[in-house]
Amino acid sequence: MSVWAVLAAAGRGERLGSDRPKAFARLGGRPLLAESLERLEESGWIDAIVIAAPPDWEEPSILVAEEIAATKVSSAVTGGASRSESVRLALEEVPAEAAVVLVHDAARPLLPEEVIERVLAPLSEGWDGVVPAVPLADTVKRVEGDRVVETLSREDLGAVQTPQAFRADALRRAVSGDVSSATDCASLVESQGGRIKVVEGDPRLLKVTDAEDLALVESWLA
Ligand code: C5P
Repeated sequence: MSVWAVLAAAGRGERLGSDRPKAFARLGGRPLLAESLERLEESGWIDAIVIAAPPDWEEPSILVAEEIAATKVSSAVTGGASRSESVRLALEEVPAEAAVVLVHDAARPLLPEEVIERVLAPLSEGWDGVVPAVPLADTVKRVEGDRVVETLSREDLGAVQTPQAFRADALRRAVSGDVSSATDCASLVESQGGRIKVVEGDPRLLKVTDAEDLALVESWLA
């Protein structure tokens, strides 16, 4: 069974306030992208990797892979206008014989091997996809304008992270339709009737959005 990873790195990352895409912001003296790429490379579960890169950053992405000797990287494709489109374009480079695809955000640099294992293992039990989630610390309310219309039960909610693992055929089907409004791949598989399992996530999988997040993740690297 071959397992391919898609590294979604094509976001612009405007909230970071940098002159370059988020995947190339500096983290521990090297591009942010290098951290998750190295962890995918070193994972015993992953056979090959496709990077979805920002337009004009495909070659720099391959250079990052070469610098860290990431020999599993098969290509860097130009990403799309949304995250889901970037995943769809990267999937075109994943060969038909790949049984499983793991999708990960480059914006979550600290990728623990245990989480890769946790999301991949249940696929052999008949699930179409597996996502890691962490409990919510805050109370969540549905709001319309400035008015609260509902308070949701926190016990029923989880904040979903990546890496997310899928049966390759289920993911391919899910991304073939209209993907414009999806913020993760699992929601697309769910909307096709796919069965998604939730496993324990990890606070270290914080998504870097602004400069404070970057500083926090950098402090965890040490
Ligand atoms: O923008 P956000 O941080 O939510 O993006 C999550 C991940 O999706 C990031 O790693 C980003 O690089 C990636 N992305 C992408 N293509 C886009 C937008 C985001 O690969 N068009």
